[in-house]
Amino acid sequence: MDRIRIRGGKPLQGSIPIGGAKNAALPLMAAALLSTDTLTLSNVPHLADIATMAHLLQQHGVDVMMDGGPGSAENRGTAEGRRIHLTAREITSTLAPYDIVRKMRASVLVLGPLLARCGEAEVSLPGGCAIGTRPVDLHIAALRELGAEIEISNGYIKAHARKGLKGAHVRFPMISVGATENLLMAACLAEGTTVLENVAREPEIGDLARCLIGMGADIEGVDSERLVVHGKTSLGGTEHSILPDRIETGTYAAAVAIAGGAVELVGARLDLIEAVTDKLAEAGCDIAATPRGLTIKRNGSRLKGVDFLTQPFPGFPTDMQAQVMSIMTLADGASMITETIFENRFMHVPELARMGANIVVHGTSALVRGVQGLTGAPVMATDLRASVSLVLAGLAAQGETTVNRVYHLDRGYERLEEKLAACGADIERLRN
Ligand code: EPZ
Repeated sequence: MDRIRIRGGKPLQGSIPIGGAKNAALPLMAAALLSTDTLTLSNVPHLADIATMAHLLQQHGVDVMMDGGPGSAENRGTAEGRRIHLTAREITSTLAPYDIVRKMRASVLVLGPLLARCGEAEVSLPGGCAIGTRPVDLHIAALRELGAEIEISNGYIKAHARKGLKGAHVRFPMISVGATENLLMAACLAEGTTVLENVAREPEIGDLARCLIGMGADIEGVDSERLVVHGKTSLGGTEHSILPDRIETGTYAAAVAIAGGAVELVGARLDLIEAVTDKLAEAGCDIAATPRGLTIKRNGSRLKGVDFLTQPFPGFPTDMQAQVMSIMTLADGASMITETIFENRFMHVPELARMGANIVVHGTSALVRGVQGLTGAPVMATDLRASVSLVLAGLAAQGETTVNRVYHLDRGYERLEEKLAACGADIERLRN
């Protein structure tokens, strides 16, 4: 099992390429199920989760072709080279098996498209993960409102809509990114009009909606909390470039904030991550948009502790909570951090404490008191964002930090150690 070793204390200088958004690419790939024509996606990140989704779609009968192959020369570092062509000419199976779904809960995003396209779907319940139970009750309840008959048995969601899905007026009782994406895709092929109220407004949903419109879908209210979808009998293919990954952007901005230095994030869009960059600026970083993306600088002075709570977009993203907590462990003063989205997303706290951080957790809030310095240590990763928060802490810690179980990292960060090493970090992957 690979590990990452960091020797802290080096500021970061230079530039880092930002790839396409993992959390846009996954639903966009599932959208290919809605058409018999080819959906071509560009600016696709090379990540383990993308490969898992490709494998899942292939066992549904989707033809998947990646230009140049994963990680090949022409693909590295260039958004243009990474293209994936998906053609669901015929769906040969509507079963999404447990052994795939358990590895990646985003697999549940095939439920809506399969139901809409084939009138049936059997999708393993994703099960919980480190950060919470992660139920899918909102997906199921809303699909039932579109006429689907759904039962849960033997750990599977067994759904069918023999007469097809019918448009309905759905109001989500709470905001859910995945439920919004499943229902948006299902509604595109439902008979009549579907109104979706209280939907998530994450940029990845707007990106999905724009791609679906390119496929011929009729969607109003894109990027708002109310979507109106006029169903079609079929959708065509299209070409779509995936928007930049705002969480990868925020993660590397956090790396500069904790390690110091000045870096340009090439391909980033500042407007997608302002809830985070505003907090980093409040703490004392200098951030500015550039023609190629954005620059973040932190020279010399110690950062100030800032408070924040995670919220649905446009609030502070939960996927950046662990990374900014790492920064706050070394800030001047205290920082109150509240996690409102997931019930168990503080697993990085005990690991940061082993590096000398002073953090007290009460329920869904963590009080971080800045310390003068962290010391390197062997630490354990538990989920994607907790893993990267430990890498960030290692960049600033005195001595050597070894992060184990980096397969978590590989799910969401492409060539992380290469990108940081290219900016001067003393970081390397130890292959076992
Ligand atoms: C998406 O997960 C992202 N994943 C997550 O990113 C992200 O943290 C999350 O949205 C919130 O922004 C992908 O896009 C692939 P939710 P999702 O449905 O769709 C509860 C990462 O690190 N809920 O918005 O699963 C749920 O338990 C990952 O890249 C229900 O109760 O998130 C959670 O507490 C981690 N019932 C809250 O809603 C449901 O049916 C938000 O979940 C669905 C969700």
